[in-house]
Amino acid sequence: MEISKCCLLLLVASSLSYIVCSTTVSHDGRALIIDGQRRVIFSGSIHYPRSTPEMWPDLIRKSKEGGLDAIETYVFWNGHEPRRREYNFEGNYDLIRFLEEVQNAGLYAILRIGPYVCAEWNYGGLPVWLYKIPGMQTRTDNQPWKDEMQNFTTLIVDKVKEERLLATQGGPIILLQIENEYGNGDIEIRYGEAGHRYINWCANMAESLVSDVPWIMCQQSDAPQPMINTCNGFSGCDGFTPNNGNSPKIWTENWTGSFKIWGSPHPHRPVEEVAFQVARFFQSNGTVQNYYMYHGGTNFGRTSGGPYIATSYDYDAPLDEYGNIRQPKWGHLKELHASVKLMEKALTYGEVVEDHLGNGLTITKFSGDGIVPGCFLSNQNSTVDATISFQGTNYFLPAWSVSILPDCKKEVYNTAKVKTQTSIMVTKKDNAGDQSKDLRWSWKPERLHDSAKGFGNSFTVNKLLEQKTTTVDASDYLWYTTNVEVSKKESFTLSVSTTGHILYAFVNGRLVGSEYATGGTYNFIFERKVTFKPGKNQISLLSATVGLSNYGAFYDNTPVGIVGGPVKLIGKNNTILDLSESNWSYKIGLDGEVRKLQLDEERWYSGVIPTKRPFTWYKTTFQAPLGSEPVVVDLLGLGKGEAWVNGNSLGRFWPNFTANPDGCKQCDYRGNFQTNKCQTACGEASQRWYHVPRSFLKRGEPNTLTLFEEAGGDPNQVNFQTVTVGTACTSAGEGDALSLSCQGGRTISSVDFATFGEPDGTCGDYESGGCGSDEAVAILKDACLGRESCSIKISDTIGTSCAKLASPRKLVGQVTCS
Ligand code: GAL
Repeated sequence: MEISKCCLLLLVASSLSYIVCSTTVSHDGRALIIDGQRRVIFSGSIHYPRSTPEMWPDLIRKSKEGGLDAIETYVFWNGHEPRRREYNFEGNYDLIRFLEEVQNAGLYAILRIGPYVCAEWNYGGLPVWLYKIPGMQTRTDNQPWKDEMQNFTTLIVDKVKEERLLATQGGPIILLQIENEYGNGDIEIRYGEAGHRYINWCANMAESLVSDVPWIMCQQSDAPQPMINTCNGFSGCDGFTPNNGNSPKIWTENWTGSFKIWGSPHPHRPVEEVAFQVARFFQSNGTVQNYYMYHGGTNFGRTSGGPYIATSYDYDAPLDEYGNIRQPKWGHLKELHASVKLMEKALTYGEVVEDHLGNGLTITKFSGDGIVPGCFLSNQNSTVDATISFQGTNYFLPAWSVSILPDCKKEVYNTAKVKTQTSIMVTKKDNAGDQSKDLRWSWKPERLHDSAKGFGNSFTVNKLLEQKTTTVDASDYLWYTTNVEVSKKESFTLSVSTTGHILYAFVNGRLVGSEYATGGTYNFIFERKVTFKPGKNQISLLSATVGLSNYGAFYDNTPVGIVGGPVKLIGKNNTILDLSESNWSYKIGLDGEVRKLQLDEERWYSGVIPTKRPFTWYKTTFQAPLGSEPVVVDLLGLGKGEAWVNGNSLGRFWPNFTANPDGCKQCDYRGNFQTNKCQTACGEASQRWYHVPRSFLKRGEPNTLTLFEEAGGDPNQVNFQTVTVGTACTSAGEGDALSLSCQGGRTISSVDFATFGEPDGTCGDYESGGCGSDEAVAILKDACLGRESCSIKISDTIGTSCAKLASPRKLVGQVTCS
């Protein structure tokens, strides 16, 4: 951030002098105006609790290097106020430290307070204790809700002000958000008139807290003034115009990919598509654009919402889950940012003239007195390439691409012409050693019998309770236990109707079966044959949630658990014994959770380690991998549960939930994007690798990995690896430079393929083609071997063995980093 021109030297009463560098932020219908200048702003989302404070400076630095001006984050209410009026602003919830890191890097911040945030975050960010407040109805014109929302919003604003973090105080925050996508779909409509009143109240409340930094409301077409309504989505805010002539066009969520779901393949969004939409946004008068996500990160602990959102929140973002640079996404967008910035003045002050040539071709010119004109040439046709003749020059535009001509003459960038290297990330054991053989496991059974009997804090009522309101989300697990008397040995079908997400049924302490909701439907009926002994029999049902709902009108009322049932015993001749109103005893959480086994130093069992045994705790010690590359633990072989390193939760794991085998077809970036268009890992574990942040690890002394295995698994294959660039490929044409680089101090150890011209295949899988391969390989070896990075200028003297190859020459290369 530039030092503001409005720095004021103030004399305070004590006669000490200090400098207040305040930045003014306002807007008109054209742009955000910072210190009197209309600006183009590139921003990216990094959610602070999805990484660690130790990772923040590096993530922010890489964001800045990638050409961002601002970092956006939500504020996560249920992380900050886990119990009413008990606050947590420590560790990865240290919001102030995060904002200070943004400021230290010289970037702006966009703070989306919500405090409803959606975000694939548990319960959309709302604390479950809200339920306990009499008369509570969230996100509407309801006094108890408004009191709580205002209380938390005020707390955050006060904290931020205390630390002088608003731009007008000299801090980084240039925009604030209240609520989130309340106007989406039929959400506001379903809250009725009260919903409208609520949105007006939100606007007034926000404005009363801060009036000199603009507030936004996303996806809120009726946003009351002075709130700026903004848009979210994949396609460049197509057809979106703010509801007021004084509001600039802001794209709050440009989804760089999507979130991972247990049991689904991994979603990807090609950078050519992202860049195309960003360029079109600026072509159509956009001025503030935020990548959701720029770094997705990890849902540590039990923070994922959804339900069924995986622990990895990688999002296919420009920085991967672990903080590595994802190429070519990061680099191609970096070039885009630099190219758009070259015409910032024209975009924000120029007059716009659009020329539609037909077939999806458009020329847009921004020009004015004393301004260097800037142009976009776009081809929105999803299949047909085109050549546009403009001011006497021909410009080649691949289908679904935009060219940027910052002086309306020279094309400096085309969204489909990717020059950045492709990096294929790999996991490596070289720094970690082959630990799978060395890891010595010990184990403990979860004390099911005691839990099933209602041992510990338990209570009894004669109905089937809703789970999250009973546990207040203190655990994923709730035990429902009842007794049934029969006079003789008898068989029944036990039938349990549940709203999910997972059910385990025990009769007389023995597991008789389990089931989990699949395919996005969370209601299911579990049925199993059971046999009762004469006398008293015990039925224990363990219901497990996998993150609470986070989206939709009244989403917070979505029931979970065996609420209301019915739970029935179906006997011979279809006789039905309805147990729904029997005496049910409840126990919240697992015994091991209550006893905090992940911190437990007491004796565990060693010797033969049971495998495929549900409800088992495992523990091992390991040495931290050397170096500084990100560390992951491979949990293939395990079923479902939670993992901890040195007491820090890595999140839920579920490697035995494999993705649908279909749906990973070849991906064409051209044409409108949907999340299932470009998927990988079909038929594989939906998440096999789990991030172990370096700050969770101790160097030179043993670290402890604890696993709670709920479904039954085998820890013997578990091992630690590091993540780095394995293979890098790129190509460059005459006049350009071919650049390749490794990461994490690794060097180029071999040149695996090189040629002039167009080879067959893709990075990691080139076959043949082009010409002069021997010469091309020799050139790359000479320039790159043994180096962390290399760059080769492509001139007309290069590739002499391909002299007959038509100009322009192109060099393609693939190398290994190790
Ligand atoms: C939006 C929402 C975000 C996030 C996103 C999907 O609708 O505002 O918080 O949930 O969808 O990743």
